[in-house]
Amino acid sequence: MIILGLETSCDETSAAVVNDGREVLSNIISSQVETHVKFGGVVPEIAARKHIESIGFIVQEALNTAKIKISDIDGFAAANGPGLAGALLVAVNYAKGLSFATKKPLVGVNHIEAHITANFIDHPELQPPFISLVVSGGHTLIIEVKDFNDYKILGSTRDDAAGEAFDKVARILKLPYPGGPEIDKLAESGNPEAYHFPRAKVDGADFSFSGLKTAVQQFINKNPEYDLNDLAASFRQAIVDVLVNKTITEAEKRGYTKITLAGGVACNIKLRKDMLEKAKIKNLSVYYPSPVLCTDNAAMIASRGYYSIKNGYYSRLNLNVFPSRITAFDIDKIL
Ligand code: KG4
Ligand code: ZN
Repeated sequence: MIILGLETSCDETSAAVVNDGREVLSNIISSQVETHVKFGGVVPEIAARKHIESIGFIVQEALNTAKIKISDIDGFAAANGPGLAGALLVAVNYAKGLSFATKKPLVGVNHIEAHITANFIDHPELQPPFISLVVSGGHTLIIEVKDFNDYKILGSTRDDAAGEAFDKVARILKLPYPGGPEIDKLAESGNPEAYHFPRAKVDGADFSFSGLKTAVQQFINKNPEYDLNDLAASFRQAIVDVLVNKTITEAEKRGYTKITLAGGVACNIKLRKDMLEKAKIKNLSVYYPSPVLCTDNAAMIASRGYYSIKNGYYSRLNLNVFPSRITAFDIDKIL
């Protein structure tokens, strides 16, 4: 089953053709980051307008690269939330048009679940159940993935997302947006024990990162002569320690043997390294996607859509967007 996936939830316009949920025939990603960099973050209205300008070309390129005609596509999947409302509408409406014209099924895909599904592409042997840590610019979640269509949120952030903490601290340090990769690079040649930053103690599988950001700001005010590499490494370690410990605790507590990482922050070098090392001690396996499949892309949307359509879940032409809902929605089971 060949699915065309569309993703426009934030500042990437992406279209991908994926066969049977795991084989990527094309994955075209056009980033708007240069447009938004001067504002220090994504400007929603500009993002939506850029998506509408480029989506037609991106879809054409995805079909050309995959050497596939629109009539060969078996279904259309579009991310319909969470994300920026105006931006999400572009992919959803484009997919509706294609579905209507070709009479092939349409499905709205949850962007968070799709981040997790990216692991199925890079690890063909991977099967649920497992525990997933989803860490992106907007979300920090520990999710129990019982089956391909059965996701349960165990915990989330009470304030800033992990990626948001990286981006906000990068801004304090006057580093370019997005700050996560910049801090990660600087941290590689720093000492993670040089400065101490707090690890917020929050109950269960929940997180809190806003205090950490404030702690960095206060530290800089008091110590203007700080070493940038050491500060980046110490801050990164404070985030990574909490993410790794909570995820491993939840996996162990619930008897899971596999952990998957997902979302943009899953690119983080130290997060990958520490999760692998600490999980190994507990006999847990760790999976994460290649960097291009960690950040926003349409291959993960097509893959998630495949598992919906294959199991009889479709959306109707009244499919809407849901900017802040983090669980699946607006999908009908056609029995
Ligand atoms: O998943 P994603 O592309 O978009 C959202 O759905 O939010 O994630 C983007 C986030 C940004 O906050 C960015 O700073 C962060 O992922 N990020 C990283 C790294 N690469 C990207 N954070 C830490 N270390 C990285 N290497
Ligand atoms: Zn994302």
